Amino acid sequence: MVGRDLCAALEMREEHVVAVTKTALDITDAPAVRDVFRRAMPDVIVNCAAYTKVDDAEANEHLATAINGSAVEFLAGAANDVGALLVQLSTDFVFDGLKRTPYEVNDPTSPLSAYGRSKLIGEQAASRAQKHVVLRTAWLFGVHGPNFVEAILNQIRKGTNQLRVVHDQRGRPTYTPHLADAIIRVARLAHADEDARGILHYADNPECTWFDFARAIVASAGADTTVIPVPSSEFPRPAIRPAYSVLSTERYQRITGVHSESWEEGLREYLLARG
Ligand SMILES: NC(=O)c1ccc[n+]([C@@H]2O[C@H](COP(=O)([O-])OP(=O)(O)OC[C@H]3O[C@@H](n4cnc5c(N)ncnc54)[C@H](OP(=O)(O)O)[C@@H]3O)[C@@H](O)[C@H]2O)c1
Repeated sequence: MVGRDLCAALEMREEHVVAVTKTALDITDAPAVRDVFRRAMPDVIVNCAAYTKVDDAEANEHLATAINGSAVEFLAGAANDVGALLVQLSTDFVFDGLKRTPYEVNDPTSPLSAYGRSKLIGEQAASRAQKHVVLRTAWLFGVHGPNFVEAILNQIRKGTNQLRVVHDQRGRPTYTPHLADAIIRVARLAHADEDARGILHYADNPECTWFDFARAIVASAGADTTVIPVPSSEFPRPAIRPAYSVLSTERYQRITGVHSESWEEGLREYLLARG
């Protein structure tokens, strides 16, 4: 989902992009990783590859850790080998969600799920690259992958009259083309300037609950579906989600001089793109 929007955003800016699919490169294959980057000699490596099936990760933690954790060590090694900046995407799921004010970049991590633990190992692995950025983000929606907006639209298309949506989890929905712009902005700065490296957060504004987000989707789609707020205990799932996963984008704003974009605007663009 992110990788395809990032490639589109880079191509629009006429940057030279080498886009590598999973078929062309399995990032858990260390020699293949080294060879690909020795051939491409990039200035920046952005890792959009991940094991993202959050619930399945509970039963497959070994595989999730191999892809989200150990493979990032190979990427960090490759980045050092060719002198590139490594941009590693990470997640709000590295936090436990017990705070009630936005998570700052240096707040202690304490993942609740196998996916969160595997991504945290990936963050630590990325920090072995001499030049690196760990860019945490959250609640993504974009046209190139399954996401919450599409799930709600599917229910509307099916003619569902009532939707029950959790109201006790807060976060910041983020439109993937907005994240792509943020990645490019951060990569340019961090490539040149050491002070722009390390951990950063990017998420769209404003914060809300899944219930608020669902209501906005229903309204934007012009549907008359009723959205009913329910506690997350009504939908038990294998992986525990953080109740409060609002990321503070203060460091991102300070470094780039740019505010986060609006997910409401992103939602309008998404609906236009979906037609
Ligand atoms: N989606 C969200 O809400 C969200 C929130 C916070 C952070 N993030 C982070 O943002 C990043 C991008 O997420 P996304 O939603 O764009 O994920 P995505 O759509 O699931 O894309 C991840 C891609 O990685 C590929 N992949 C899996 N294992 C691989 C391997 N061993 N080698 C190479 N490629 C492999 C997947 O292929 P297959 O599908 O064929 O396995 C998939 O194409 C990830 O780091 C994710 O953790 C996502």
